[in-house]
Amino acid sequence: MRLDKYLSSVTRLTRSQAQRAIRQGRVRIADTVVKRPAMQLPPESAVTLDNEKLARPGLRYFMLNKPKGYVCSTHDKGHSSVLELLHEPVLEGLHFAGRLDIDTTGLVLITDDGAWSHRITSPRHEHPKTYLVTLAEPLSDNHAKRLSCGVLLHNEKTSTRPAELERLSESQIRLIITEGRYHQVKRMLAAVGNRVLVLHREAVSTLSLDTNLQPGMYRALTDQEIASVLRA
Ligand code: URA
Repeated sequence: MRLDKYLSSVTRLTRSQAQRAIRQGRVRIADTVVKRPAMQLPPESAVTLDNEKLARPGLRYFMLNKPKGYVCSTHDKGHSSVLELLHEPVLEGLHFAGRLDIDTTGLVLITDDGAWSHRITSPRHEHPKTYLVTLAEPLSDNHAKRLSCGVLLHNEKTSTRPAELERLSESQIRLIITEGRYHQVKRMLAAVGNRVLVLHREAVSTLSLDTNLQPGMYRALTDQEIASVLRA
């Protein structure tokens, strides 16, 4: 693909704005300034605009609506892998940008771009993850406050980061967390003496689960969606 076409597809720039940005020396490929808009971009090139990383051409990025009963792992003999839901000619290299438990449903991001998935999962970037949580017991105001402020999980030394909590009913909440500790949501609720009955992930970073995707279905991310995560 031509560099200017690629640039306008992954940013908000029009084709002519992209050409201008390239001629102005604002675009680098593998740290080298490139000033020729017609240049053919090698697959998987690391491209930046004004030092901001852009989505890599030639790599794959998907969102999937995970049903219950599937694991986010490639080698679990006893259970089906979420990867089995993908109808892709080659699965090699694909991995999860953040895992869900076998009984959790909702948004899973799958890619073969390790830098992109690291960006999402690295705690340093604090990408929010939004969960719809159905609880075994009604949540008291005091427990809601403790969850929002941060709770100490069993066997851990530091409290969870502050979370956003929205009450949807007596026993259903929307919880937004910016970490991805092991079984974090279930353990947060256990820390206040409650229990998660149903857990569904609605969003990760800038990406919300596409409501057209039935459980088990997936679609490729758009170039804008891929780039929006890198800008977040
Ligand atoms: N927190 C959990 O406890 N389980 C998940 O699947 C995701 C977040």
